[in-house]
Amino acid sequence: MDDLLSRSASQAAAATAADDLLWYKDAVIYQLHVKSYFDANNDGIGDFAGLTAKLDYIAELGVNTLWLLPFYPSPRLDDGYDISEYRAVHPDYGTLADAKRFIAAAHARGLRVITELVINHTSDQHGWFQRARHGKPGSVYRDFYVWSDDDNRYSGTRIIFVDTERSNWTWDPEAKAYFWHRFYSHQPDLNFDNPRVFKAVLAVMRFWLDLGVDGLRLDAVPYLVEREGTHNENLPETHEILRQMRGYLDTKYPGRVLLAEANQWPEDTKDYFGTGDECHMAFHFPLMPRMYMAIAREDRFPITDIMRQTPDIPSNCQWAIFLRNHDELTLEMVTDSERDYLWETYAADRRARLNLGIRRRLTPLLERDRRRFELMNSLLLSMPGTPVLYYGDEIGMGDNLHLGDRDGVRTPMQWSPDRNGGFSRADPAALVLPAIMDSLYGFDAINVESQARDPHSILSWVRRMLGVRRQHRAFGRGGLRFIYPKNRKILAYLRDYEDETILCVANVSRTPQAVELDLSNMEGRVPIELTAGSVFPPIGQLTYLLTLAPYGFYWFLLASEAQWPAWEVHTPAPEPLPEYETLVIRDSIAHALTGAVGGRIERDALPVYLAKRRWFSEKGESADTISFACAPALPGADRETLLAEVEVRHRAAASHWFIPLTITWEDEPTFAMASQLALARARKARRVGLLTDAFATPHFAHGVMRALSERRELPTPQGVIRFLPEDGLADHLPTAGAEVKWLSVEQSNSSLIVGDAAMLKILRRLNEGIHPESEMTRYLTGKSFAHTAPLLGEVVRASEDGKPTTFAIIQGFVRNQDDA
Ligand code: NOJ
Ligand code: CA
Repeated sequence: MDDLLSRSASQAAAATAADDLLWYKDAVIYQLHVKSYFDANNDGIGDFAGLTAKLDYIAELGVNTLWLLPFYPSPRLDDGYDISEYRAVHPDYGTLADAKRFIAAAHARGLRVITELVINHTSDQHGWFQRARHGKPGSVYRDFYVWSDDDNRYSGTRIIFVDTERSNWTWDPEAKAYFWHRFYSHQPDLNFDNPRVFKAVLAVMRFWLDLGVDGLRLDAVPYLVEREGTHNENLPETHEILRQMRGYLDTKYPGRVLLAEANQWPEDTKDYFGTGDECHMAFHFPLMPRMYMAIAREDRFPITDIMRQTPDIPSNCQWAIFLRNHDELTLEMVTDSERDYLWETYAADRRARLNLGIRRRLTPLLERDRRRFELMNSLLLSMPGTPVLYYGDEIGMGDNLHLGDRDGVRTPMQWSPDRNGGFSRADPAALVLPAIMDSLYGFDAINVESQARDPHSILSWVRRMLGVRRQHRAFGRGGLRFIYPKNRKILAYLRDYEDETILCVANVSRTPQAVELDLSNMEGRVPIELTAGSVFPPIGQLTYLLTLAPYGFYWFLLASEAQWPAWEVHTPAPEPLPEYETLVIRDSIAHALTGAVGGRIERDALPVYLAKRRWFSEKGESADTISFACAPALPGADRETLLAEVEVRHRAAASHWFIPLTITWEDEPTFAMASQLALARARKARRVGLLTDAFATPHFAHGVMRALSERRELPTPQGVIRFLPEDGLADHLPTAGAEVKWLSVEQSNSSLIVGDAAMLKILRRLNEGIHPESEMTRYLTGKSFAHTAPLLGEVVRASEDGKPTTFAIIQGFVRNQDDA
């Protein structure tokens, strides 16, 4: 047994460890630029010390992984993607020691760190290139790059930066040859046909992994290898390089990941996962523009279509999805007509267009429409894959179209309304990029400090949504099943993982929508809305009807009954309190009940109320009328208590039911049952309370006992109600204020014990005739049966012709007496 236990414990530990290796599936990535995040030494440029100082903010946001844009020495002509030295930190951003401190501080907060491995190309200022252009053709360093005597080779290759580059070849007067470059002409491509290049790249990789980084984003990875006669993207030789890198990583650095930047169609990107032996993650580029397309066209099709075209990926792999990043919103992965449509819709201002994309941030793209912002983020956080958030988008930052290239979306993070948005205390003119200052998006209007204080800000919303997402692994790991309701403005999908199923429904249109979802294979499950825990009606056989506000969305857990107890955060509410009428009392309850509210209580509240009572054996809904037949006041009671009799009429037949009524006031000690059994609210001037079943209050028990001992009589239109004591009563009279214990309220009759001396049972259904129980008890009491509770009295109404109706029976209390 012990053996078994320890084996299963070690198996569990192994399972956890294996699970932990898949951490990237549960990740939410936050992408940022060190230079634009926070400037700790106030020289105008963000730095590692500044970023480290802001780690608490990042951790509190609710992401768990950081992706840092390139921070290496670089002329920064491509904002750092033009690296001049791989194993160092740009002096503007700090030192290697600062970077190490940052990594340790991130890890201490449970944040993982992904950095850039830009190996397709270097800067032309890199030592390797400088040596290459000076080296002889065929020499070791010359061979680090791709050279040609003419610019006609590889002519089937597209140009990526179409706005700036005319050719993928640039003449180098020093080398007297053309060098190959897929991006800017100052970014020569490395030659992966040279094994030394691969070795050098591995050394760079090792360097950063040894420093503790958890993952590497592989920049521009489809272009590593060139072959004549191809378009030089996604070549098998490129995949072979990646497999080797992965093999190396797995042996030496298990748990670290490779993230491929391959701006390709899904079927081509899929190859970057290999058979689970290349990259762990890859960006899903084609999905991103289609989310914008869906809301522009108000049609889910662009999304469902591309996801259907997305092949399954190996189980240890994961998509990375995003709405925006540091580049232009690329439209390479759409058709020409789609691109024109998206350009017209989202970049009518031509300055916003760059290469084949749109250089705008998320919030300006959505025209500051909060509903669209929430909708798009709800898709980002619920579609399959690991979401990547771009810094500043969590507060709705804007962009600056007057800056060159993509700098407009890389401006300083806006921390506060202080100088430079709290990013730096340097002179504004000294900033690495100017802070946004316009009236809509400037740091006065949009900043972390104000939004952190505002529970309704974008920032607070993003934090909450990330919190919700964290509770459910299905978002990161679950499968995807679309539901196809007729209404195409509605995107609906299920995310399942293990025993959890989440239903996401989104209205991609600007108008309110209704949708009928076929969820019949989920019959019996209860949708629980995830952001607030509201419980929706259970799913049945019929289509499930939902209505959605413009750009509205829902995330539901489809809870099976078994899942309810595990659902700790949002336990489904017990039955909600009915919306009570308020009975306004000026003098007496009795008088108030004769008014309009009394009529509505009879008509609307009583049928529902009675239907819920276990003692009510008839079907209240089938009643023709339900009304108070009479409500005489209990004589001598210390508060107004009505011995109300409810008449239920159905066709010719009528039944009568006894509900004593009183008010429990809010400012008095509460009796749980009294509020459960309430029939209406009550207000007398400033005092409010509940009109409820008096039986649930101790006053009632004491009142009846007193009336009995005083042998009260109460004339009513139906006859005289008599409180008839028996001889034994005097020995069992409870002292004033003696404790009341309720035995049952909801059985066919209701009983309680007062002062451990007497048991009071009220009869709910009122029948004419001598009550058999009181008769039997009276008989046994007369015969002095030792174990019988003696009869102490009765409350009986005698009609004009003398027929009795019993309201209550009072007996002496005998311990161990059964709950009647
Ligand atoms: C992809 C990066 O995301 C982009 O910013 C850069 O310009 C190109 N690679 C070239 O390095
Ligand atoms: Ca600085």
